[in-house]
Amino acid sequence: MQKNIFSLCVTRLFWLGLFLAVSFHADAESLDEPTAGSASRGYDLLTKTPFLPPDFTEEMFDSAWQVWPKPLRENAAKASPTERRQMAMERYGLTTRPGDASLEPLQYVVSGSEPNKTWTMNCFSCHGGSVYGTITPGAPNNRFALQTMTEELRSAKLKLGKPLSRMDLGAMFIPLGTTHGTTNAVVFGIGLMSRRDPQLNLIDAMPKPAVHHDMDAPPWWHFYKRPHIYIDGFAERGHRGLMQFTLVPENGPEFYREHEDDFKDVYAYLMSLRPPKFTGTVDHDLASTGEHLFNDTCARCHGTYGENKSYPDLRIPINEIGTDPVRLTALPVAGRQKYAISWFAHHGEAGEQQTVVNPDGYVAPPLDGIWASPPYLHNGSVPTLWHLLKPEQRPTIWRRAGEQMDSEKVGFEIEVVSRVPLTQSDIAIRRQYFDTQKFGKSNEGHLFPNELTDDEKSAVLEYLKTL
Ligand code: HEC
Ligand code: HEC
Repeated sequence: MQKNIFSLCVTRLFWLGLFLAVSFHADAESLDEPTAGSASRGYDLLTKTPFLPPDFTEEMFDSAWQVWPKPLRENAAKASPTERRQMAMERYGLTTRPGDASLEPLQYVVSGSEPNKTWTMNCFSCHGGSVYGTITPGAPNNRFALQTMTEELRSAKLKLGKPLSRMDLGAMFIPLGTTHGTTNAVVFGIGLMSRRDPQLNLIDAMPKPAVHHDMDAPPWWHFYKRPHIYIDGFAERGHRGLMQFTLVPENGPEFYREHEDDFKDVYAYLMSLRPPKFTGTVDHDLASTGEHLFNDTCARCHGTYGENKSYPDLRIPINEIGTDPVRLTALPVAGRQKYAISWFAHHGEAGEQQTVVNPDGYVAPPLDGIWASPPYLHNGSVPTLWHLLKPEQRPTIWRRAGEQMDSEKVGFEIEVVSRVPLTQSDIAIRRQYFDTQKFGKSNEGHLFPNELTDDEKSAVLEYLKTL
């Protein structure tokens, strides 16, 4: 019995991390290489085609307010259905779709017809959000409240006598994300892969125990530049790896062959994305000083920008980078090996990909559009670029204080506290606080900016706005 519930939880949840094992074809590709596949069809597929069984009915989503804490619940009771939908989307970090006036979220595929509409999570739940108020597919969803939403929908279902899904059960055992905007996304990929053979047939194996920790999703506008993806760069970029997200048991091995072409279009969509341009003011003289300093101090790892752009795709050993090591060790060598010999990596076929099964550190990401993807570092522990450049000033416990950009520090406007207020009765508010003392959430490391003086750091900050 216990085994059953455990495997149910893990199987339903494993897709969360599927994206993890993305594969792709490396070699020395030029940065702007055109790709086969239709980017616009890729976007349509992501927003309109459910590749998984549904997470919940629309009716349940619209009932969640009934279990909210007061006074929010009282306000919702007085609101119109449309206002209530907006309140729920706001609470859970969901947005509308650009250029679409309906209240269908970017982050879920809505299917079926009234009164039986269902919602199915798509990639945008983590990879599509708001950049300081502008809805931007491909930007990290730094407001996503997956754990809170799952718990409250579960309570609402119990209250209204509706059946629980496996996701509901799973979330009782496996944390989906302890701080809003970050998710425990990575651990499941490997766990779920352990229940497949290399050709993705389902096998009877217990999922491997996983190390729970939260990550901040990377923006998709770097995808075209990165021959290897994920923070440790273990996998080659490719369309098949993007399908790991769909590895629920309901999708048998034939699903992958049938939908492979769809994911060529999804791949083309990701390859087509570019970062948004900085919306504030820039001091161009200062930025030009910053460019020289950046090229001397930072470019060997992060590459150069503008006319002579380059991206070194360089992995830095964990002792040298010194940022939180949990993510690196959470993915076991055996898990990466399993990926290496699977259909995702084109094992045994022409174009077989090289998987790095034992990476020793993290890859320095491209910094294009870096102003638009706070918080910083792979675990999202640093709220602004200014704090990234001033390691000794990084706050220990902080939360986002508003939707606007802190245009001086470039990143979130924040409130810093000495402890998370445990007396706060709304769990959604407690989960807004990022406590860097918790497991996997350290804000240490990346001390390279300390080669610069404070004035030089200001110049580099100005330059970073222009990327
Ligand atoms: C629950 C949140 C979540 C969902 C849903 C999700 N991802 Fe991710 N994704 C992440 C996180 C977190 C990472 C960082 C993983 C790492 O670096 O180890 C990531 C990494 C990636 C990367 C690597 C980017 C880079 O620059 O390294 C790609 C590509 C990607 N995801 C594509 C997808 C696609 C396609 C889907 C849907 C089919 C998807 N993701 C669904 C959270 C998510
Ligand atoms: C020795 C290589 C190296 C040097 C030099 C270096 N970085 Fe980094 N940088 C990294 C790595 C690796 C990461 C990813 C660390 C992580 O997420 O844990 C990173 C992360 C970052 C990030 C956060 C990216 C994100 O999306 O969260 C920023 C911003 C950044 N570096 C800016 C700089 C600047 C500015 C300089 C020069 C003053 C610099 N770096 C110098 C390797 C380097």
